[in-house]
Amino acid sequence: MDIYQIAIDGPAGSGKSTLAKGVSKKLGIMYLDTGAMYRTCGLYALKNDVSPKDEEQVAKLMEKMVLEVAFIDGNQHMILDGEDVTGMIRTPEVSRYASDISALPVVRKKMVDMQREIAKAQSFVLDGRDIGSNVLPNAKYKFFLTASSAKRAERRLKELNERGDFSQSYEEVLKDIEYRDLQDSTRAAAPLVKVDDAIEIDTSDITIEETLEALLSKVNE
Ligand code: DC
Repeated sequence: MDIYQIAIDGPAGSGKSTLAKGVSKKLGIMYLDTGAMYRTCGLYALKNDVSPKDEEQVAKLMEKMVLEVAFIDGNQHMILDGEDVTGMIRTPEVSRYASDISALPVVRKKMVDMQREIAKAQSFVLDGRDIGSNVLPNAKYKFFLTASSAKRAERRLKELNERGDFSQSYEEVLKDIEYRDLQDSTRAAAPLVKVDDAIEIDTSDITIEETLEALLSKVNE
């Protein structure tokens, strides 16, 4: 079978990663979470005490950073300077660092090059903000997920609570989502946009199973 790619873009909490995992399982293709890559860059800045908005310092960091995306038993692991940091990139602090650092072209160039290299070897579903618009403009299928910010905050909170994390209130999660929405969609470098050839799915009032069905029916059409 031919190698093909599926791009899933959308704002934080729109259900991209759950959906991409489902697609990967159903279709038997690999899944690349590109947000995890920007999160790892954010973590690197945090560890090195560098502001994620300081372009000059971040450029130096990018030169020395040794980042590897490993797939172990089908699961993506982020290896930073030889250390598996997969479990360290989902904190609210790293989320903010990731959002800030991902606005810098020097970071995006490095990540996008890696993403293209990874995705060309076999069939992949990728999720992110700029997959259909920038990373893989020729992806065979492109989807753009949306949902109200209230709904997305609700889901994010549920996800955190299910992981045993009760450190944030609904208001804090909502504020964080709104901060990232504004930042991700107004930045100059590859902002979050829906491209004309992407199929939009509003996930506000449908379950993840229904979203997956809608997506697969488009792929099978
Ligand atoms: O999807 P996520 O929340 O894990 O992404 C973390 C941050 O990385 C998010 O604030 C936006 C950024 N990002 C990006 O700019 N481009 C991508 N392709 C994926 C994520």
